[in-house]
Amino acid sequence: MRAFLGIGLPADVRETIVSAIAKVRGLHAPVAWTAPRNLHITLYFLGEISPERVPLVERSMQVVASGIDPFSLTPDGGGAFPGTRNPRILWVGFLEPLELVRQLQQNMENALSGIGFPREDRPFHPHITVGRTRGALPPAWGERFVQALSGERFGVVPVSSFTLYDSRLGPGGAVYTPLCDFRFERSAKREIREEKGS
Ligand code: 2AM
Repeated sequence: MRAFLGIGLPADVRETIVSAIAKVRGLHAPVAWTAPRNLHITLYFLGEISPERVPLVERSMQVVASGIDPFSLTPDGGGAFPGTRNPRILWVGFLEPLELVRQLQQNMENALSGIGFPREDRPFHPHITVGRTRGALPPAWGERFVQALSGERFGVVPVSSFTLYDSRLGPGGAVYTPLCDFRFERSAKREIREEKGS
């Protein structure tokens, strides 16, 4: 199975992203736009894994989640990989500070590396992929995309868990199925300890 770990987005945030990109979508450039239900933040792409390894990944991710406090992320602005002049992946980014999501991703990568998964060779850049280019774009199209999203408000993403997704690629596009949610538990545990001590 093909799998990844990520953070799902609330429906209101997905809707605001969809309406913000409607302007550029209307220009009919060769871009495969992400289906609204698929908008998410990837934390770690596991790739093809055998189903027998899933319980090991799940146990490891439960430990990671137990050491994280809930936080929130504010989507802000658009960009492109590898750059706005030669866009291949079109994304919505996030306002700083991003230490908490970076810490989560780092803890995840450390734990996964302990059970045989490779470390990412690129720095983690949290983003929501909204489209992938499928051919030559008109000149300055990337800049136009960035401009269209500049100043847009998308709401806030409360993050109190992350999710293991099964990803199936098919002719109708990718289908991501949540397999397991890993809830952050650190604050809950601390509260119980504090109650006991008082
Ligand atoms: P992206 O959105 O950051 O591009 C599910 O397929 C998710 O896993 C995608 O949204 C993509 O993240 C990421 N992904 C897919 N193929 C990948 C690969 N070969 N290497 C790293 N991440 C990948």
